[in-house]
Amino acid sequence: MSKRTYGNEFGFSTRAVHTGNDVDAETGAIKRPITMANSYELPYDPTDMNWSSADGNLYTRNGGSNQKYLQEKLASLEGGEDCVVLASGVAALSGLFFALLKSGDHVVFSSVTYIAVYRLLNELFNNKFNVETTIVDTSDLDAVRAAVRPDTKLIHIETPGNPTLTVSDIREIAKIAHENGALLSVDNTFASPYNQRPIELGADFTVESLTKYINGHGDAMGGAIIGKKEYLDIVRAQSQVNLGATISPFNAWLIMRGSVTLPLRMKQHNENALKVARWLEKQECVSFVAYPGLESNKGYKTAKKQMLNGYGGVLSFGLKADHDTHNRFVQNLRVITSAVSLGHDESLIVFIGENDERQYLYPEEFRNGFFRFSVGIEDADDIINDLKNAMQKVFKE
Ligand SMILES: Cc1ncc(COP(=O)(O)O)c(C=O)c1O
Repeated sequence: MSKRTYGNEFGFSTRAVHTGNDVDAETGAIKRPITMANSYELPYDPTDMNWSSADGNLYTRNGGSNQKYLQEKLASLEGGEDCVVLASGVAALSGLFFALLKSGDHVVFSSVTYIAVYRLLNELFNNKFNVETTIVDTSDLDAVRAAVRPDTKLIHIETPGNPTLTVSDIREIAKIAHENGALLSVDNTFASPYNQRPIELGADFTVESLTKYINGHGDAMGGAIIGKKEYLDIVRAQSQVNLGATISPFNAWLIMRGSVTLPLRMKQHNENALKVARWLEKQECVSFVAYPGLESNKGYKTAKKQMLNGYGGVLSFGLKADHDTHNRFVQNLRVITSAVSLGHDESLIVFIGENDERQYLYPEEFRNGFFRFSVGIEDADDIINDLKNAMQKVFKE
C-alpha cells in the first residue's frame, strides 16, 4: 500500500492518476520504478518461511511490487475490497473458475462471452472436472431464473458481451444469484470501470482483460479479478504460485502507466463509437448495427440504467453483401486496422465469418458474417471517412 492513500473521497480520475503510486523511498523519484528481479533477499534464518506465500516479496512468481501497485489502483477503480492481477484476461477468468468450482458444481453462463469462457466452461471444466454448465441468454431474466439450480455455484455474465454487445442486467442477476446461494462474476472488459462498476451493482466479482481499455495502448497483456480477499487469496495461491500465471513486472508497470489516462481515453471512445454507430445506422449498405448506446438497441434501457458515462468503444455491424465483399471492404480501409483485440488507442476491425462455431448462439442478424469494430480515439471524422471511402469503393465495383 502506498503511504499516500487515495480513497473514495477522491474522484475516479484522481484515483486513476494517483492510486498505487508513491514517491520511491530510495531515489525520491515521483514515479515508482519497475522491479524486474526474480528473487528477494532472505532473512537471517529462512527455514520457517512459507515458500508458497503470496504476501511478501520472496520470488516474482509469488507476486511482485509492480503487480501490487496496480492491484491497489484497480480495486479502488472497480470499488472492490481486493484485486489480483494475472498474466492475461484469460488467466484471470480461468483463475476465478479454478478457485470457485469443484467437481459436481453447476455453472450458468451467458450465451455470448469471449470464446475462452465458452471453451473453459463448456469444454474443459465439464469434460475434465465434471462441472455441469448451462448456457443461457442472460439478457432474458426469466431464462436465468429457469437455469439456476440448487447446486448452482456461479453465474458468469459478460456485459456488453463479445461480440454481439448483448446487455445483461447486473443488479437483477445478482439478486437471482444471491437468492439461490450462488455467486455472480461479471466480465467488465468491454465497459471498463469508467463506464460500469459491477460490484457496486451487487456482483461478487469483476473480471477483466487489462490488455484492452485499462492499458489502452495495445502493448501489454494482463487480467484482473476484483472481489473479496477471502476468494482472491485462493486465486493467488493457485493461479499465481502453483499454476504460474503471474504477470510480468514490466507488463504490470506498463498497464499502471496506461491506466492513468483511462478516463480521458474512455470519454473519447464513448463519443467516437456513438457517432460512428449513429452514422452506420443511416447507411443503405449496412444490414445492422449493434451498439448499446443506440436507442434502437434491445439492451439500451438496461445499459442506460447500469452504465455510468457511456457505452464503450466496441460495436458490431454487417454489410448487405457477400462474404468476399466484407473482406474487400477491410482491404480498402486506411485508418482502421484489421486485427483482433479491442480497447486499443487505434481502431481495430475483425471480420467474423458465417462459419463461426458459435453462430447458433447469436441473434439472427449476426449469422451471415459481421464485423466487430473497436472504435479508437482517432478523430471521429477520419474514422467515418475511412468507412465511407471503403464503402464507396466496394459498392461501386
Ligand atoms: C470480454 C473479454 N474477456 C476476456 C478476454 C481475454 O483477455 P486476454 O486476451 O487479455 O487474455 C477478451 C479478449 O478479447 C475479451 O474480449
